Amino acid sequence: MSLFEDDRRFNARLQKLRFFPLAVTGGAGCRLRDESGREPLDFSAAWGAASLGYGHPALAGAVAEAARDPAGASILSGATAPATRLAECLLELTPGTGERRVWIGHSGSDANEATVRAVKLATGRPRILAFEGAYHGGIGHSMAVSGHVAQEGVDKDPGLTLVPYPDPYRPPRDGQAPGAAVLARLEALFATTVPPEEVAAFFIEPIQADGGLIVPPEGFLRDLAALCRRHGILLVCDEVKVGLARSGTLHCFEQEGIAPDIVTLGKGLGGGLPVSAAVGPAEIFDAAPAYSMQTLHGNPVCASAALAVLAEIEGEGLAAHAREVGGHLAGALRTLADRQPLIGNVRGRGLAIGVELVADRTTREPATQATALAMARCFELGLVVYCVGMHSNVLEITPPLVLTREDAEEGAAIIAHALEDVAAGRVDPAVLDGFDGW
Ligand SMILES: Cc1ncc(COP(=O)(O)O)c(C=O)c1O
Repeated sequence: MSLFEDDRRFNARLQKLRFFPLAVTGGAGCRLRDESGREPLDFSAAWGAASLGYGHPALAGAVAEAARDPAGASILSGATAPATRLAECLLELTPGTGERRVWIGHSGSDANEATVRAVKLATGRPRILAFEGAYHGGIGHSMAVSGHVAQEGVDKDPGLTLVPYPDPYRPPRDGQAPGAAVLARLEALFATTVPPEEVAAFFIEPIQADGGLIVPPEGFLRDLAALCRRHGILLVCDEVKVGLARSGTLHCFEQEGIAPDIVTLGKGLGGGLPVSAAVGPAEIFDAAPAYSMQTLHGNPVCASAALAVLAEIEGEGLAAHAREVGGHLAGALRTLADRQPLIGNVRGRGLAIGVELVADRTTREPATQATALAMARCFELGLVVYCVGMHSNVLEITPPLVLTREDAEEGAAIIAHALEDVAAGRVDPAVLDGFDGW
């Protein structure tokens, strides 16, 4: 019985998002090792979590050290040095004014969850704004303020209003500029059904990741931030996937010239260990005791891992590295797009790149099945890459931040090969049998 088959028998489908038969036994750098001994290049980094790649000595050392002499196991009922140093460090690294606090959790989901609850409690305002296509998490309140198609049927927050995320590749049909159309829609909502004085916060992603790796139009987030400020609506920037150096700057929002009130972090913060954070005003995050906590929050092993990740990002200049290697990779993919009509659009920042596949470049009809076949073929050829988007037609490239130019070229060549095979009908659709995707 293979590992993959055992997993099918023993592990729940509820938490699986499988595209091809990957069964991992180890990893080093930007490569995973699978059960057959192959070492595929990983263009996902486990959805952006393995920010330093696999087996990074600084991370392994920090974790081993923290586990050997742990400062307890939790932040709830006693101060610990790793969690306190992590909070101090995140406050230093995150722009903001006034008295601020850091809430530490396990996942992007719980950071957004705690934030939803805290902003409502502290402001007394019942409404939340967010974007269609947004994925802010997979638990209660974080799902309730998300707009991703994968969560259709999930109970939404009664105070939630979703507006479209402006997509430069798919502008409104009436010819309006995508950003202006969304701002006009918001103004109309504020004048009618969504009184702005009832809105606690607007949750944004600086690049809409799971919704399709969509980079918003230039200036849109600046205008949105100004609109929120005018109405006293807190701006919550979800940097869980594209934050912490991935976009080419430490925080992706820096490239938008905005200063969010609250920033949520996760995934890459722990380099593969479960740790997340929300950074924001003390009046929000000190609003009540014992209101949003789980026993192992702030535990010393995960907090130490996060400190090691932040030190590597700074010490190794990983934001600049992501910008440089990401630019090189996006360039290679754009060159590929010149000769591969399946590619409708290549976009992104740093090492957060989306490759949108379309059946027809004129109609821009999403090529959903071709995307699934391309991922399967990439895997056969030695590359792990997944897809995002409301039509599951955008290859999402979020590799470890330590990706080299050579790795980037190797991965781009595999994508080129896979797309050629898909376009030529050389990939048997039967490879998708048994895989749900999303
Ligand atoms: C932007 C964003 N926020 C939050 C989350 C939730 O993070 P997690 O699944 O680690 O809880 C995700 C996960 O994909 C995400 O992309």
